Amino acid sequence: MSAHQEPRREFEYRRTDFEAIRRKLYQCAGISMADSKQQLVYSRIARRLRVLGLASFSDYLDFLQQHDEELEQFINALTTNLTAFFREAHHFDTLAQYLRQHAAPGRRFQLWCAAASTGEEPYSMAIAALEALGDNPPVSIHATDIDSRVLAQAAGASYPIERVKEIGSQRLKRFFLKGTGKNAGRVKVRREVRQLVRFSQLNLLAPGWPLEPPYDLIFCRNVMIYFDKPTQARLLDRMVPLLAPGGLYIAGHSESFSHVSKRIRLVGKTTYQVADGSAA
Ligand SMILES: C[S@@+](CC[C@H](N)C(=O)[O-])C[C@H]1O[C@@H](n2cnc3c(N)ncnc32)[C@H](O)[C@@H]1O
Repeated sequence: MSAHQEPRREFEYRRTDFEAIRRKLYQCAGISMADSKQQLVYSRIARRLRVLGLASFSDYLDFLQQHDEELEQFINALTTNLTAFFREAHHFDTLAQYLRQHAAPGRRFQLWCAAASTGEEPYSMAIAALEALGDNPPVSIHATDIDSRVLAQAAGASYPIERVKEIGSQRLKRFFLKGTGKNAGRVKVRREVRQLVRFSQLNLLAPGWPLEPPYDLIFCRNVMIYFDKPTQARLLDRMVPLLAPGGLYIAGHSESFSHVSKRIRLVGKTTYQVADGSAA
């Protein structure tokens, strides 16, 4: 093989296979894959071919067509789940401030975390709530994601210790347990945090969402970037009415929606509030 030749791939993978995969992903999960993701798609789906003992991507596409249960693995393989505790920390200050401002006897707060990935985001929301309102805060966090594999990790609430190295020793001590024995090198989120969070699978593209609005805050961060503009606009039209009057919609650092929807207005850094007359 000359230095300029493409390396031979383990599995046959044609441009049309890539096109079919990205069409399917868009239909099922709303995720738009750029042309530049051709190699990424290869490496992620190649793992499924190995597991299933298939010889080519076209065999895999036939298999996917014939086996509905493979769709979940297909989606899990292609989602990007990057997240961190207290990622974009200012949003957790906003949350704490909102809770303190609106706390009143008998008042309960409902929060939705709409792309929770492996759980760091909803657990950070729970920690912010505990810090703002004290023990047993009247807060319920519904954390959802399309990806069943990350949800299982999230529910386990156990993380390699490197994942919490940025959060500070006080938080680490108060909200995490250090693993010992076979769990050495790991931390577990304490029960008082975990009990505020409930996880379930939810595809934002699904026609119905099993949710119980109204929500005081919706954290929907770093997922809309994978959707095209019409999909973003449709989702915002469905999410905004789920907010309580004065409720906040929290977006990711590179997501901007003032031009996408008139139902919300920017009130802080990637923080939106229901525009007057738009709430349910
Ligand atoms: C990059 S992560 C963002 C995680 C977290 N919100 C944060 O900002 O750190 C994007 C998440 O969106 C989820 N996702 C992608 N498409 C989705 C869809 N159609 N419905 C629900 N979740 C989806 C992925 O599974 C992934 O866990």
